[in-house]
Amino acid sequence: MRWDLTVHLFTSLLSIYQASNFFLERLKKDKVRKKDTRGMGLFSSRKAHSGFSGSNTAEEVTRGIDATALTAIITGASSGIGSETERILALRGVHVVIAVRNMSKGQAVKEAIMKENSNAKVDVMEINLSSMASVRKFASEFKSLNLPLNILINNAGVATYFKLSQDNIEMMFATNHLGHFLLTNLLLETMKSTADQSNIEGRIINVSSNAHKYSYNGGILFDNISDESRFNIMWAYAQSKLANVLHANELARRLKEEGVLITSNSLTPGAVETNIFRDTILSGKTVAAIFLLRSKYFPYSFLRTSIATSLGKYFLKTVQQGASTTCYVALHPNVKGVNGEYFRNNNISESNSKAQDTELSKKLWDFSIKLCENNGNA
Ligand SMILES: NC(=O)c1ccc[n+]([C@@H]2O[C@H](COP(=O)([O-])OP(=O)(O)OC[C@H]3O[C@@H](n4cnc5c(N)ncnc54)[C@H](OP(=O)(O)O)[C@@H]3O)[C@@H](O)[C@H]2O)c1
Repeated sequence: MRWDLTVHLFTSLLSIYQASNFFLERLKKDKVRKKDTRGMGLFSSRKAHSGFSGSNTAEEVTRGIDATALTAIITGASSGIGSETERILALRGVHVVIAVRNMSKGQAVKEAIMKENSNAKVDVMEINLSSMASVRKFASEFKSLNLPLNILINNAGVATYFKLSQDNIEMMFATNHLGHFLLTNLLLETMKSTADQSNIEGRIINVSSNAHKYSYNGGILFDNISDESRFNIMWAYAQSKLANVLHANELARRLKEEGVLITSNSLTPGAVETNIFRDTILSGKTVAAIFLLRSKYFPYSFLRTSIATSLGKYFLKTVQQGASTTCYVALHPNVKGVNGEYFRNNNISESNSKAQDTELSKKLWDFSIKLCENNGNA
């Protein structure tokens, strides 16, 4: 009897020991994973897996990289994060083609870059991402130049009140997602043949936002994409940014399946001091703080607005820091072979569960194809 009891006690203790060991191991792994991928707190300058943090500048994360063999297209490089990305890529030797809607702004940015770096190779071409005809015209003009294409950076973005694009699609979805979706598809063959001939990995990068986490319920309003009565500026912006992540993920899956030497990733630049919200009454500082305060109901709360505005400046990165994750993903050897990931603060991070939903990404892909084929009618 006493022997039975001892055996029972011993086996129970052994099971408890094994179970606790198992959970401790899990906990340790989780901690390591989180440290590797999500190491950046709001104010953190702690370096994570890559050795870089959110406080590093684009110049720092690309130091020593020779990219003279590469050609890149950057959309929306006439201001903010895009123009700094353009400056740094050109500094590292990339032949940069900037795709802008305002040619004189684009020329001015080019001239400023050439003043600082007379060896820079920069071309300016016109595109209006909210018009499918303009995207098609740009792609055909680019192809007629017979240039290679190693890197495509889908960076342009707007945040605006309800408006319809030339193709009658809600403006933020049309510009931030659909224009880039069409552009990427039209340039993919050029990227594939460049990768084939050069044996250099091609990289497609969608500049999304952490705001992707705050989209409408269900993620994308497939049945009401351009319906004003469902429109909310914050959720619609978030929806377009969720579409950027879903697009990059689905493209990554397709590229992998095809076995081509091209990767597709998305990223958030963080909250950066630019003019992205110039078409709204919200300042960049306010909006940055709103998302950081994680309130969907912010637009209705005066108090939260005031707090957010005064706190906003403490949350913002400079454009030099804001462009760093884009430049890191575009050029850094650490990122070789990395496909279908979401980056933040120069490290792999986690997008939210909707962004990782493969069914949703396939549905968005088919929906976008239909819109492009029918010029705005799904
Ligand atoms: N700033 C932030 O805190 C933040 C945070 C997360 C994500 N982002 C993302 O970062 C990207 C860059 O934004 P930013 O902050 O650098 O803002 P920005 O300075 O306003 O840059 C946006 C760029 O997009 C261009 N653009 C807008 N509509 C266009 C269209 N229809 N066709 C072609 N180009 C168009 C703008 O051209 P114009 O100069 O002609 O207006 C501008 O060059 C955006 O995708 C944005 O969503 C920004």
